[in-house]
Amino acid sequence: MARIELKDWPIPLENGGETVLETMIAHGVPFPYSCASGDCGACKGRVLCGEVAHDSATAGILSATERADGYVLACRCTPKGDLRIEALDELVALPAARRQRGWVVSRQHRQGDVVVLRVKPAKPVHYLAGQFFYLKFDNLPQRAYSVASLPGADELEFHVRLVEGGKTSSYVSRDNLVGSEVTVDGPHGHGYWRQNHGGPIVAIGGGTGLAPVLSIIGAALAANAHRHVHLYYAARVEADVYWEAELAALARQYPNLRVDCALSRAEPSEQGPLPRRYQRVTASLAQDWPSLAGAKLYIAGPPKMVEAVAVTARELGLAARDLHTDPFS
Ligand code: FES
Repeated sequence: MARIELKDWPIPLENGGETVLETMIAHGVPFPYSCASGDCGACKGRVLCGEVAHDSATAGILSATERADGYVLACRCTPKGDLRIEALDELVALPAARRQRGWVVSRQHRQGDVVVLRVKPAKPVHYLAGQFFYLKFDNLPQRAYSVASLPGADELEFHVRLVEGGKTSSYVSRDNLVGSEVTVDGPHGHGYWRQNHGGPIVAIGGGTGLAPVLSIIGAALAANAHRHVHLYYAARVEADVYWEAELAALARQYPNLRVDCALSRAEPSEQGPLPRRYQRVTASLAQDWPSLAGAKLYIAGPPKMVEAVAVTARELGLAARDLHTDPFS
């Protein structure tokens, strides 16, 4: 039986051969994590003393340099003996998740095969900007969706990408969806807004990854209307841009909010209200930010985009603790 000492945690933890993250969860430690499968980097920590056996990790989430400096993913490593470790992110007790009934109060089809759902839970639910919920309709399997609305709102807003032939897609496309019951389970996830950070915020939302990013920047700007925020709305082509008017209105409302549309596969054409960048979002990031030192970066969207942005951000000097990812397909 190995012993894990966690910096800033008063009690040593017993490990019986499971991963470091499993030990933290079993002992009720509020250690940061999200995917539990090596894809998000939320559980990153640094070994201060001792050794671990580490499974493979993608370079964008844990670079070779970080590995050499003692950084690990708690969900991908097991101690080889007694271990002293520190979490990179803050140890925060997140709002408790609960499962309850809710009802669809509105449903709106948008271009790019996106449906915007608003759900009213039976009881108000406390969550942090950017967290996600599991929704379960009728007899369908539950699906995770990040919340786009701000904490404190009565209704939860979700952006659902329709998938051809998908059961959930067929269900939310029904004409009589409004009024339907849905089980709401949450909140979950560590991709939330870090309120204690006062520097600039760079946020990247790819596809419906825009949803948690809207929640995060909305909460940050509501707290400080003069906050420096740069949002990249990443999409492939014009037809995928489903939330432009709202973003343009937000940019008019806040003097230090800049919003760019990064279109990776579109030919330059007539522009909408937001500035267009006809290149990958990583190229725009490198052009606009010679250094990301001191900034917080929130990325949500397809895993490949998240990983590519994470690599670029690291090259631009972003500190590992300031990278917060929410990869989903
Ligand atoms: Fe370990 Fe996501 S929780 S990488």
